[in-house]
Formats: sequence, C-alpha cells, structure tokens
Amino acid sequence: MQYGHFDDVNREYVITRPDTPLPWINYLGCEDFFGIISNTAGGYCFYRDARLRRLLRYRYNNVPLDSNGRYLYIKDGATVWNPGWKPTRTPLDKYECRHGLGYTAIRGEKNGIEVRVTYFVPLGDSLELWDVTVCNHSPRARSLSLFGFVEWCLWDAQDDMTNFQRNFSTGQVEVEDGAVFHVTEYRERRNHFAYFACNAKPAGFDTARDAFVGVHEGLDCPRAVLAGRCTNSLAHGWAPVGALQLDFNLKPHASRRCHFLLGYAENREEQKYVRPGVANKAPFRAVAKRFAKSAAVEAARRQLQAHWEKLLGTFQAEVEDPHLARMLNTWNQYQCVATLNLSRSASGYETGIGRGMGYRDSNQDILGVVHLAPQRARERLCDLAATQLSDGTCFHQYQPLTKKGNSDIGGGFNDDPLWLPLAVAAYLKETGDASILKAKVGYADKNQKKATILDHLELSLRYTEHNLGPHGLPLIGHADWNDCLNLNCFSSTPGESFQCAGDIRGSRAESVMIAGLYCAACTEMAGLYEFLGQAEAARAILRRAETMRGAIVKHGWDGGWFLRAYDARGRKIGSRECEEGQIFVESQGWCVLGGVGLNDGRARLALDSVKARLATPNGIVLQQPAYATYHLHLGEISSYPPGYKENAGIFSHNNTWIQIAETMLGNGERAFEYYLSMCPSTKEAQIDTYRAEPYVYAQMTAGRDAPTPGEAKNSWLTGTASWAFVAASQHILGVKPTFKGLCIDPCIPRAWRGFKVRRVFRGKTYHIEVSNLRGVNRGVKKIAVDGEPLSGTVIPPEAGGKEVRVRVELG
Ligand code: GLC
Ligand code: GLC
Repeated sequence: MQYGHFDDVNREYVITRPDTPLPWINYLGCEDFFGIISNTAGGYCFYRDARLRRLLRYRYNNVPLDSNGRYLYIKDGATVWNPGWKPTRTPLDKYECRHGLGYTAIRGEKNGIEVRVTYFVPLGDSLELWDVTVCNHSPRARSLSLFGFVEWCLWDAQDDMTNFQRNFSTGQVEVEDGAVFHVTEYRERRNHFAYFACNAKPAGFDTARDAFVGVHEGLDCPRAVLAGRCTNSLAHGWAPVGALQLDFNLKPHASRRCHFLLGYAENREEQKYVRPGVANKAPFRAVAKRFAKSAAVEAARRQLQAHWEKLLGTFQAEVEDPHLARMLNTWNQYQCVATLNLSRSASGYETGIGRGMGYRDSNQDILGVVHLAPQRARERLCDLAATQLSDGTCFHQYQPLTKKGNSDIGGGFNDDPLWLPLAVAAYLKETGDASILKAKVGYADKNQKKATILDHLELSLRYTEHNLGPHGLPLIGHADWNDCLNLNCFSSTPGESFQCAGDIRGSRAESVMIAGLYCAACTEMAGLYEFLGQAEAARAILRRAETMRGAIVKHGWDGGWFLRAYDARGRKIGSRECEEGQIFVESQGWCVLGGVGLNDGRARLALDSVKARLATPNGIVLQQPAYATYHLHLGEISSYPPGYKENAGIFSHNNTWIQIAETMLGNGERAFEYYLSMCPSTKEAQIDTYRAEPYVYAQMTAGRDAPTPGEAKNSWLTGTASWAFVAASQHILGVKPTFKGLCIDPCIPRAWRGFKVRRVFRGKTYHIEVSNLRGVNRGVKKIAVDGEPLSGTVIPPEAGGKEVRVRVELG
C-alpha cells in the first residue's frame, strides 16, 4: 500500500490517505512553544516543558491510538466531517496532509466543500496559528458551521491524568469577546493562562466538555456539533475545553478564510488581574492584534519558511542517491532540531511526563545540530554541565522548565560524563569558540563553587579513571549507553526500576563500551588541548587513552570481536563463551571509534563479525543470539521478548557507529549499505511492514528474532538523528569540522562519480565538488582551494575568500 510520497522540492512529506499504518507525526515550534501533530490533526502542545506546562490533553495508549488534538468539525446539513478525517472518520472525497518544516497543512473535501488548514507556531511567539480556508466548489449556495475544538490539560500532564479527586473541581475558564481562556489554578500559584480564539467572531462557544461532547458520547460524535449549535457553556471543574462555532454562508465557488489562535500567555504577579477574579488578558490581546489579519498570518508563515531555508542552507548536498539526498538535505537535519528541542521527552510515544532531558541523549543531540544552532548548542552544553555533580557523576535527566536534575533517578550511569567532552569538542570544532571552556557553570551539588566547562571535561575523564573495575575497565554503574544492560541490579520484583533498584556502590561490573567511549573522549580532549596550544597536556591525555586501550586489548577482546562487559561476578557478557548474547554491537562500534585495534587487525575482525552475525537487510541487530528468557543478572535487556528493543532489536542509534567505524577502515561500500539498510526513506517500499514515518528515524525496528521483523517503533526522538547525520555528512561524504579547519575526506561507494556539498563553516561558505572518476572508496588525491593546491585534507579557516571553491579529486 502507498500512503504518501516525498515532495523533495517543497521539503514536504505528502500523505495521501489518512489511515496510515500508525499516526504519522510532525513537530511545530522551535523556541519555547512546541506541539506535535499527526496526519489527522491529533496531538498536543506545551510551553517549554511537556509535563509541567501542557496546554492540550492527549490520550496516550488509547483507541484510536492518536486521540485528541486540534480538531475542526464541519456540519454541512446532515453530514459531519473533519478535514483531517478524525475523529469522525467520515469518508472524505479528497484528503491530503503535507508535513513540512515546522508546519502541517491538511486538506479535506466532502460534497463540494473543501477545508484547508495549515497549523504552525510563528517564530518568536508562544502560540499555534491554524490558518483555515473553506471553499465551496459546488454550483449552489451553502450554509455550514465550522467548529474548532481543543481540550485543555490542567497544566501538569501527569497530575492531569491521575489526580481526579482534585482535578474534577479545579478546572476554570473565562470567556471574553468570543475567546476562551483556560485559567485553571490561575487563582493560586500560576500566573499563566492559555487561550483559544478566532479572528472571526464566533456564533457560539462551549467550554464544558460535557456540554459540547456529552458524557456518553465520544469525540467522533460531539453533541453540539450534531445539533449544529454550541451551548455557550461555562466549565466549572470537570473537563474544560475550548470550542468555537463559526457559521458560513458560501455562494457558489466562494471561499472564506479565518484563523484560530491557540496559545500561552504569562502575566507579572502584580498585573495578574484587571479586577478581582478577572484575569488580565492584555498579553493575549497584543498577540491577537498582531495576528488580526490573514496577511499577518501569511507573513509569519513565510518567515518560518525563510528561517528553515536559511538554517538548512548551512549544509546542502547534491548526491546521486535520492534517499541520501532527501535525508541529508531536509529530513535528517529537521529531525536533529526536534531532538535538540525535546531530547526524548515529548512525542506520540514519549508522554512528556517522564524523563525530560537526558544527559547522554542531549549531549549526543548536539552533534547533529551544532552547525545549525551553535548558540543554542552552547546554552545546552552549559545546562548539561550544570547537572554534573562534584564527584563527576551526572544527573541522568533534568526537567527543561526548572533545569533541575531528577533526583528520583539520580546519577551513576557511568557513560554519562563522557558524552560531554564529545559534545563540547563538536561545538569547538564547528565554531572555534574556545571561550566556552571558561564559562562558569558550577556543579549541581556545589553551585557556589563555580567550575568552568573545562573543569567539567577534566572531571568527566577522571570520573572514569577513578571508577575502574578488576580488569582496569570502567565500572558500568546502573548502565551505560544501553540502559537495559543492568549488571548490578538483580530485580525480581515487578514494577521496580531495572536501572535503579540495585545498589551500585561496590559494583564490580565493567563496560567495554565505556572503555572505548573513554578512549574516544580522550582523543577529543587531546585535540582540544592542542587547539589551545597545550601540547604537553594533549600528550598526557593520549597516554591515558593508551593505557585504556591496553586494558581493552588484554581483557576486552574475545578473539573475533570485543567483549561487551563483565558482570557483577566477573563473568563475560558478549563472548562466544556465552550461550546467548555472544556479540553486541556497541562495544564493536565504540572500541573502533576509540581507536582500538586499528593497526593490529582487531578492528577489521570485529567489524567483519558484526557483518557476519548482526547485519540484516533492515539494519544491524543489537546482539545475538537474543535472550530467550529473563536473566536476573542482566536486567531489563532480557525482559524484552527476543527481537525487540535492546534484546536483539535493530536499535537504529548504534547502527550509525558501525557505519562510522567502517569508514574509518575505508569500507565505503559497507558503510553506505548499512546507511541505506536503516534509512527511513527506503522503507516506503515496505511500509506496511515498517509502519512508522518514512521521513524520520525510529528508535527501533524489530529484529529477525521478533515475530514482526522489520516493524519500526518509537519514531522521532532518538539519538539516531544526530548520529546518522554525523555518519553521512562527516564520514561518508567526509565533510568534517575539525579543530584546525574543515576536513574533506570522503569514504563512499566506488560507483559514485562524485558529489557536491555546500557547507557554511566559521563564517565562510564552502562550495565543495568531489570527483571520483577513478572509482575509489577513499583517498584524496588532490584538493584545490580557490584554485590553490592544498596539502593534506584540512582547509585552514583562513584559506580562501568568503565563498570558497573547493575541488577534490579522489583516486
Ligand atoms: C534510549 C535512551 C538512551 C539509551 C538507549 C539505549 O534511546 O534514550 O539514553 O542510550 O535507549 O538503551
Ligand atoms: C527503557 C527503554 C530504553 C530506554 C530507557 C530510558 O529502559 O527500554 O530503551 O533507554 O527506558 O529510560
């Protein structure tokens, strides 16, 4: 079945039937106000924090899956329908949804009436605009009603779903001039409210869900819509909603345009009220005035478009492969921005009430966006460093609104600290801005002690060095990157946290993956010190890495690949001695990335073992053989049925490390084959199996041991986004920022005749043209920069003018 197609020119994914295998989602917003929106207009929005400042209620795990959203109902005689098909699911004569960069445009047509609506969050504002046009394509005059509908969340999305003894009494609204204001808890400790309004004067409204929808009815048959009339209800407790009714009389072939405003506003404490009990709506009025006319809405839309074009203009490639082209130029970078904005916190699958910003996740997210948003990357790095504790461990997560570490989960995930050096190095390579190292951010437990970012980086390496196990390999703590490999926990009680139930003090379990990651972090730190002109410090760090490499070769090598870990009792994990879980992908990736075994054949052997044992046509599975039963001493990994998640699923994120590792060994064929095997755009060809959006990466695709191999889950918020962009742009195309300048060193399939890249880097625009007439995988024969031959592969920042022409010949 086909559900849609890419419109590469307009950077849109066009969905042509609403009954996609899963809701296919897009994101709105790029600063403080965000929303997710599905192809049937489902979803929710929030201000900064998907848990603590949620505007719209969304029903997770519901039937239908994607329930509640930004619905428009059309009542046209006896027919009631939605342009996005849901919730009524009245069959449409025409339907189309275009997910674009920061907007979603839905078009539905029924009985000669067409409704087009574009949803977006304008730059610099905290609201959604729904730009609606209703057209009468029929030869007769028509009278119809259009209802806009949202259901308010009582701010804290977790409490909203659970605390009914309170919530059924607290809901409050105000209605003024046809606009609905959600003011629950405004009377006490909140100074913010939400609004739902229309630029055209509504014929009626509802704010009580019981009145608009009914008690026994569903959103597919709301009473007020069926009756054709809102009841002007005022909600007192229960479930406040915003419903606005517009009545249209449309002559043949006439159309009407209007727009809804759904937003968030704050008042200063002393300006909360205009009179007792009446909220000050001034912040709303100012916004409504600016967006009074359609022209203003249109201008905001164009501004948003220009913003994205400019952003993406930082990196654009011309390559032969259409999948690579559209992922690199549009969708992969777009997804990277979504992960920067939200880490793993808010999607259709991540309820936004859980983990907030993850330390390791958010550090890795930096890698894919630092070229697009260096300033935001810098701020994020400082926020992250501020959640490190003075002993070097890091809060595993923090809430975006408060920026406070989540103490329920705490620290002790021993890979966490090491991602900061990687992310800061990426920032420095991109920008050359060494001032970040002096930025004072303190520690989460000792804020008075203003440690600099450089102090944090040093502490991160030392944390690993001070937490080594019996084999001289890093202790794993609660878990490393693989949150589900819990070697110190032993949980036999249902519902307990696999990661935190165990006491990790005195833990002896060691991680070979962290060992490799540490080596990579050392290499980055050495480069950084060299960049600062501190050659001795750089050499000292390289020696520390060598020591760790020695330990890996001695205790972390299993003969054909790198071991994964030692468990709490010193038994090997990821060894051919094991019955299950003989080989894991993560340690193969990170040991090679950490420079282990590059010259003695181990790296090649390890990657060949990955190919032989873990590679499948849909990507590389995490480990083999899958764990058939639950193993107390391994934790959550073995809790998943074989083939899913970390238990031998294709965990997209770590596939990218193998792609990079293959380029390090010069195998451009395999690197790209792996790239395509998990590339979402290639999944259009098997979409009924794959099911998830073909324009963004999903966290996982079911592995070959699963009953549903090839089925993807948990799209959008995954570290895959950043790493896939790094792998493709920096390692396959080989256009790589380094401390010393832009390096060009591709590793591509032999069949490629060449490619072009436009890259903005440290204030200059590089127009890079690579030709591969000799059909090699790798090897730069010569480079000319503005016509001048360059020795080596790194273009120093001072070479060339503002527009730099770079010609590269491989061979
Ligand atoms: C999820 C987590 C990430 C972890 C990965 C593997 O993607 O967000 O932190 O590394 O799973 O367990
Ligand atoms: C669960 C997931 C894992 C994720 C973790 C985050 O353990 O299986 O993928 O990293 O939760 O907390």
